[in-house]
Amino acid sequence: MSESLKIAVAGLGTVGAGTLRLIHEHGELISARCGRPIMLSAVSARDRRKDRPVDLSAVRWFEDAVAMAADPEVDVVIELIGGAEGAAKAVIESAIAARHHVITANKALLAHHGAELARAAEAAGVTIGYEAAVAGGIPIIKSLREGLAANSIGRIYGILNGTCNFILSTMRETGREFAEVLAEAQKLGYAEADPGFDIDGIDAAHKLAILTALAFGCEVNFDGVHIEGIREVSALDISYAGELGYRIKLLGIASRADSGVEQRVYPCLVAKDSPVAAVEGVFNAVVAEGDFAGTIMAEGQGAGAGPTASAVVADLIDIARGSALPTFAVPAKDLVRAPSLPIERHVGCHYVRLMVVDRPGVIADVAAALRDEEISLEAMLQRGRAPGEAVPVVITTHETEDAAMTRALERIGTLDTVLEPPRRIRIETL
Ligand SMILES: NC(=O)c1ccc[n+]([C@@H]2O[C@H](COP(=O)([O-])OP(=O)(O)OC[C@H]3O[C@@H](n4cnc5c(N)ncnc54)[C@H](OP(=O)(O)O)[C@@H]3O)[C@@H](O)[C@H]2O)c1
Repeated sequence: MSESLKIAVAGLGTVGAGTLRLIHEHGELISARCGRPIMLSAVSARDRRKDRPVDLSAVRWFEDAVAMAADPEVDVVIELIGGAEGAAKAVIESAIAARHHVITANKALLAHHGAELARAAEAAGVTIGYEAAVAGGIPIIKSLREGLAANSIGRIYGILNGTCNFILSTMRETGREFAEVLAEAQKLGYAEADPGFDIDGIDAAHKLAILTALAFGCEVNFDGVHIEGIREVSALDISYAGELGYRIKLLGIASRADSGVEQRVYPCLVAKDSPVAAVEGVFNAVVAEGDFAGTIMAEGQGAGAGPTASAVVADLIDIARGSALPTFAVPAKDLVRAPSLPIERHVGCHYVRLMVVDRPGVIADVAAALRDEEISLEAMLQRGRAPGEAVPVVITTHETEDAAMTRALERIGTLDTVLEPPRRIRIETL
């Protein structure tokens, strides 16, 4: 066998530890597939005294991960620290400057600095592997960069955050409210103590921004993603959605039009019989629509030590085999700055739930607000009667521009018979 490939791992937490364990347990298999041995040359983390899953006594320990990344004995630097700035970014920049290949699971960093890092890596003649950064164990980066490389992709979307999918699935199955299910997810270790990144849609948006760049050949543009999280989703809406033939999922959706690229992350209604509706619990799924391949969907575990390590080591094997692909499928210098289309111009159908006083004329006022924005109703649901009291009224609409719906809802929200701000959830046709 030829010379060993020497790796340095920065960050030995969930993903780092999983990666070390996988390399340890599958050392022979990995070396056979690489055609050369893999050697763990150096590691770095914050606290040297912490227990790690494999014996590191023969491995060089660096207090300074940035210095480790520049070490001349290293071939590949694996960054598993996390965070869009700070140590993680410095480690990757240091590795690229030293002409070492880089592997990272860091979606936040790529979402904010993907284009500049891709340019730097390509100028230095090194690769950035980031399979683990999007949808964990699902090989979607490889699918887009290689398997679907001959296709023009019109739309890519998916369930990109397992925490949110777990919460929404559990709310539907049990009829419980968001806060209660979030607390359970935290107890089970599916949600962080500070869950904002997940439940406010930021994590899904990071991944969507990366997928968009890869699918459409444009610079990563996180600021162009319209983001709404799942905090406002209620058990009542999930139940009504079910009656109407839908499930509520947090989707990341990117589509391409002549005038630019639309990127949105929000909870939406999807038909019960659509493939993503059946993806439940902590699972993730990504759907890509290629013009020649047609629609492909990949489903699997989007996080956790095992699936994420699987993706990290797949990148390592590619590098060991000599694979050198442009980071975002086209040379970084050719990535375009596609205009991002604002949500206001998005055209789609809507679900709206109102809490209204049950008295004559209410529906006529609501219908007038919709009519004045040229929004046509598809269906309306009103259950039970409680004269003088609050009752829910649910409306679904035909396609309309988002801005028109927003204006109509603002007006509806001012009616004295409408007791709470209207709740709007977009309906996606998949
Ligand atoms: N967890 C997942 O399921 C998952 C899935 C996909 C992608 N990711 C991504 O993978 C990355 C790592 O996530 P994780 O969950 O493994 O994080 P984690 O468990 O918090 O581990 C972070 C590791 O980084 C080390 N570290 C922190 N600051 C450092 C510094 N300045 N220099 C060197 N090491 C430092 C920590 O050291 P100590 O151990 O000494 O504290 C720890 O080992 C993130 O980018 C995350 O978004 C995670």
